[in-house]
Amino acid sequence: MAQLIYSKGTQVRNDEYMTPKGAWEDIQMYIPGDKLIWEAFYGDGTSGQYLRELGFDVIHEDVDFYSRIPSADEICVSNPPFSGTQKILQRLVDIDMPFILILPSSKINTQYFRNIFANRSEPIQLIVPKKRISFRCLTETGTYEQSKSGAWFDCFYYCWKMDLPRDIMWL
Ligand SMILES: C[S@@+](CC[C@H](N)C(=O)[O-])C[C@H]1O[C@@H](n2cnc3c(N)ncnc32)[C@H](O)[C@@H]1O
Repeated sequence: MAQLIYSKGTQVRNDEYMTPKGAWEDIQMYIPGDKLIWEAFYGDGTSGQYLRELGFDVIHEDVDFYSRIPSADEICVSNPPFSGTQKILQRLVDIDMPFILILPSSKINTQYFRNIFANRSEPIQLIVPKKRISFRCLTETGTYEQSKSGAWFDCFYYCWKMDLPRDIMWL
């Protein structure tokens, strides 16, 4: 399902940004332990494995996000393909599924984000990471690159119906 958008030098900018374990460790206190976690976007499978290592019950399979019907006790915790943000957010809201999604911070400025969430009674809540997330990024040659200083863009953990104690949580 790799989708190349454009590249700059050797850094490929696409949907293949794998989440490092530390990014889940940083917010594990905000992920409810009594829920079934749907890590809906498989990538190379490591993200779901990391969540399991942290003690969560996790569904993480290489299936199409739009064709799976989740059960009512699931919450979606994932790092989705950034190019599909609008459709993904719309589907999660339509099926009334609480979520924590890692997405670029710029997404909150989009018109579609405003349309989906601005007048909703359950607000979007944000967890702000301490530093940029060091995703493992798939390159054109099929190898991974990971910058120690983090990605070239900032991210938030966008949370919906997660009942965080504050609307903006600073890690
Ligand atoms: C940003 S990557 C993150 C992968 C993984 N969730 C992680 O955090 O390491 C998003 C992944 O979703 C995959 N993807 C794209 N469209 C999808 C779809 N409709 N259903 C499931 N996966 C999809 C992409 O190929 C990519 O591997």
